Amino acid sequence: MQKTIKVGVVGCGYWGPNLIRNFRAVPNCRMEVICDLNQQRLKHINGLYPEVRMETDYNRLLTESGVEAVAIATAVRFHFPMAKASLMAGKHTFIEKPMAASSAECEELMDIAQKKGLTLMVGHTFLYSPVVNRIKQIVDSGDLGDIRYICTRRLNLGLFQKDINVAWDLAPHDISIILHIMQEFPGDINCRGVAHVTPGIEDVTCMNLNFRKNRSAIIHSSWLDPRKIRETTIVGSRRMLVYDDVSQLEKLRIYDARVERPPHYDTFAEFNYAYHYGDVYVPHVKQEEPLKAECQDFLDSIREGREPISSAQKGLDVVRILEASSESLRQKGAPVNFLTGPARRPITPEPATNAVADKKSSDTTLLKR
Ligand SMILES: NC(=O)c1ccc[n+]([C@@H]2O[C@H](COP(=O)([O-])OP(=O)(O)OC[C@H]3O[C@@H](n4cnc5c(N)ncnc54)[C@H](O)[C@@H]3O)[C@@H](O)[C@H]2O)c1
Repeated sequence: MQKTIKVGVVGCGYWGPNLIRNFRAVPNCRMEVICDLNQQRLKHINGLYPEVRMETDYNRLLTESGVEAVAIATAVRFHFPMAKASLMAGKHTFIEKPMAASSAECEELMDIAQKKGLTLMVGHTFLYSPVVNRIKQIVDSGDLGDIRYICTRRLNLGLFQKDINVAWDLAPHDISIILHIMQEFPGDINCRGVAHVTPGIEDVTCMNLNFRKNRSAIIHSSWLDPRKIRETTIVGSRRMLVYDDVSQLEKLRIYDARVERPPHYDTFAEFNYAYHYGDVYVPHVKQEEPLKAECQDFLDSIREGREPISSAQKGLDVVRILEASSESLRQKGAPVNFLTGPARRPITPEPATNAVADKKSSDTTLLKR
């Protein structure tokens, strides 16, 4: 029988209630206390979960509730002070993305967690998405050929943030997906953006991550778009893949499409690109809520004393890329060298877990028809 872990969640604005719902759905987890400064939000949440203790004082959550683990779902500027207080109080700590407002803050938190032997995790939810992990399997199997570029679009109207720009708000998801797929850090990063609504806070950004061998990723983030778009396109030398996270049933489509340049031609008239248009294939991916797998991984990593899939190190990697993007924004889009910063470790491939990969159905066979 697994040990029951008592959890407290701080912040029940837009996202916190999703964490609360999923921690309650995970076996051997007890949602002990929910904390928010906003009395109205607490009253609403209390109506949903009358058996859970409600708290307005975060310090009391840390000192009086007896929780072993804390999940922080407040605005980014509060992540560092709240996570530091939680770790200093001896609690395993989960922080929503992005992990903190700077890499120095991330490093300080990692240092405290390591010294105290506590689990520190960041909420990169897409690392637990069955679709993203199917994409990783497809890329790793070589079905797409060599990756040429990845293009992601995460657009909608709002929710405008006051303390971070749209790249810090939305791009952490895309960056974590791209690093997971590329298994490599970009050599340089550039980013352009415009602040249309709140002076000084870009609401539209376009970030480029430039990798070795001419590979690249483009991340378009916006709070100023009429449609909700969550789309990732991966263009390979053999096939192309589109991941539409807004689609209910057909989130993943693989296009047997490519263009080839003839190796030899004698005259310009003979020169012709060879376009290949083949079938479009829609792999079935079993739907499971990534957030539930994320909450489960937090608790399992506490029990097993291992690194969570969405580790603090990955949180730090994403924040470093965001910092480079902000530096490029300040320099009006000039490329910022990423690899000459503090010592980089190679990204180590990790084994997919049952929680994140559906290994039974393979796309490879269907694609190689
Ligand atoms: N993983 C995801 O897919 C995902 C999606 C959305 C948001 N998020 C992240 O979740 C976090 C929260 O975002 P949000 O949109 O829910 O913000 P929000 O502003 O809607 O909610 C934050 C809540 O924290 C409360 N709060 C602030 N200071 C507090 C304090 N000292 N003590 C107690 N409560 C306090 C506020 O009253 C508010 O209710 C952010 O880091 C965001 O990036 C993650």
